[in-house]
Amino acid sequence: MEGNPLKPKVVISAKLRSKVREALKNLLNEIADIYVLNDWTNERSLQELKDAEALVPLHEEINEKLLSRMPKLRIVARFGVGYDRVDVEACTKRGIYVTHTPNVLSNAVAELTLALMLCLSRRIIEADRYVRTEWAKANRSTLPLREDLYGKTLGIIGLGRIGTEVARRAKAFGMRIVYYDKIRRRNAELELGVEYLSLDKLLRISDFVSLHVPLTPETASLIGERELEKMKKTAYLINTSRGRVIDEEALCRALEKHQIAGAGLDVFSEEPLPLDSPLIKMKNVVLTPHMATLTVETRSLMLHIVAEDVRRVLTGKAPLNPVPEQKDVISTRKGNE
Ligand code: GLV
Repeated sequence: MEGNPLKPKVVISAKLRSKVREALKNLLNEIADIYVLNDWTNERSLQELKDAEALVPLHEEINEKLLSRMPKLRIVARFGVGYDRVDVEACTKRGIYVTHTPNVLSNAVAELTLALMLCLSRRIIEADRYVRTEWAKANRSTLPLREDLYGKTLGIIGLGRIGTEVARRAKAFGMRIVYYDKIRRRNAELELGVEYLSLDKLLRISDFVSLHVPLTPETASLIGERELEKMKKTAYLINTSRGRVIDEEALCRALEKHQIAGAGLDVFSEEPLPLDSPLIKMKNVVLTPHMATLTVETRSLMLHIVAEDVRRVLTGKAPLNPVPEQKDVISTRKGNE
């Protein structure tokens, strides 16, 4: 379908919620023609993408093959913070901006992290089921005692924006907080009273281990069999970052053997999580559908950031939220030509 040839074409993911798609259309309507694309991989889609000047993907892979078909592309504005599915190097070589939404979602992700910790320690999902099916029949509660967060040790892996917000909240719960990061965060240590440990030490002493690192070649399978073996038998593993930061098969084995107490997972190596995944049947896990940023407030902020960066680039300005790798790199700014 031909659009308005005078307006630049912006292709957005059909996987974005309809309200987000509508809002993006409204925010960009004046300056752009918006196309909603479902499958980004087949030949027909490639035809649709060929004259795109901006892309707003959700989890679609933006790789060299796709980029080579889009000579007019100026920006890939990722709706989210993680950009592991975007080939940033290939974009940079072509002078294409890659942006994301890092500053507005840490609270939402931190809240879900704490929610998963509470669900595991107080077994809230199971308790809800108990009220619906058994409580009225029993003359006293038969639920076993649960555990406090108070006084426990939380090991945060990756003390960036999100990890720091998790630390603040966990501190309010009276937890001891230790962290591991490739960079030592001395300011956070002073401000939050968190302690830096090696990864091994953190794994050995933590009651909860929570992952807050991006998925990169360095962090892929950061938690595998060896690391799980180091964790306490009573410890819980929480993942709201990316599924592949954990070796999921090793995790399933550890959970089956009760080598750790449980896991709270919002992200998986394959999404949606297949129904035949062993995780589905396990009682010692709490599973959520990659929903850490899915709040009204956060999604609205993300939406405005994406729209603003697309608008800026299409009107010749540099975006406000380039990914870190691009902060100094892009010298040929297509938008400023
Ligand atoms: C969510 O997964 C994000 O990258 O923001």
